[in-house]
Amino acid sequence: MYTQSFSVPDGTEDAKSAGLKAVPKAMNAHDAALQAQFDARIDADGRIEPREWMPEAYRKTLVRQISQHAHSEIVGMLPEGNWISRAPSLKRKAILIAKVQDEGGHGLYLYSAAETLGTSRDQMLEALHTGKAKYSSIFNYPTLNWADVGVVGWLVDGAAIMNQVPLCRCSYGPYARAMVRVCKEESFHQRQGYEALLVMMQGTAEQKAMVQDAVNRWWWKCLAMFGPPDADSPNSAQGMRWGIKRISNDDLRQKFVDATVPQAKVLGVTLPDPDLKWNEARQAHDYGQIDWDEFWATVNGNGPCNKERLGARVKAWNDGAWVREAALAHAQKQQSRQMKEAA
Ligand SMILES: [Fe+2]
Ligand SMILES: [Fe+2]
Repeated sequence: MYTQSFSVPDGTEDAKSAGLKAVPKAMNAHDAALQAQFDARIDADGRIEPREWMPEAYRKTLVRQISQHAHSEIVGMLPEGNWISRAPSLKRKAILIAKVQDEGGHGLYLYSAAETLGTSRDQMLEALHTGKAKYSSIFNYPTLNWADVGVVGWLVDGAAIMNQVPLCRCSYGPYARAMVRVCKEESFHQRQGYEALLVMMQGTAEQKAMVQDAVNRWWWKCLAMFGPPDADSPNSAQGMRWGIKRISNDDLRQKFVDATVPQAKVLGVTLPDPDLKWNEARQAHDYGQIDWDEFWATVNGNGPCNKERLGARVKAWNDGAWVREAALAHAQKQQSRQMKEAA
């Protein structure tokens, strides 16, 4: 999935300086010409490809953003994967397996896209496993009952779609192309979640209450997924200038609220915000204050499931060591056999 605007610095970076060093101080004539070429391409809304010259800060920003995105997809498999063995029917189990598998695939395309920028997958995974790299903090909350699985599809994947559709127009070619397929699959994720909830809302009073409870717990966290308000997002302007970010955090959040309110009405649930109301003058919904202290506490490692999620990823990596070793040994054996045959 899922962005939280992807402007969150990783553990070792300074929030204020990350991504802003666009132009080196003393640039020679050759580099200045390359920079001018790059700027012209960006201004013309063109694509930058892996072997082409790009400013180091652009490369660094993309590696951080795409790897955070990849980590989010992989960690995002955990809260729902947890429900595969407890899905209420064979049909729901098959749908959920397909969705969780899609998320694994999204992680793989995105790691591949980030690798084209010169950072290895091992380096990215090392950063994740040591807690240095961030991933979307939405996955540090627990999925307590089956309705949570539906709400994650409807709201978390729904927020992801809002965030990710503009990334299909990102200036970096491999990222933009990966996002086209990702977005198509996210659309299925959102719909399957919404449909599961529609079924529950036609069920017993207890089932309806489960859905409402899950909506109450996830709503505000989904609004926070779009990242801090524009006024507190110092890197957004540079991201926009580079054609990486196309729509601001607040504008995306507003689009999400406006799209979701009518869906909640059809579903028959209340969104837990007393300040949520249509503003005729703005032709948009007003909504209440997001708890940013909670958001930052979770981003910084103190959410309810941070330790569990990271622990699960590290364990999966360690448990898979024998597979990697066997694959490597097999590849080496094949290579030496081919060399012997060629000799
Ligand atoms: Fe995804
Ligand atoms: Fe998804």
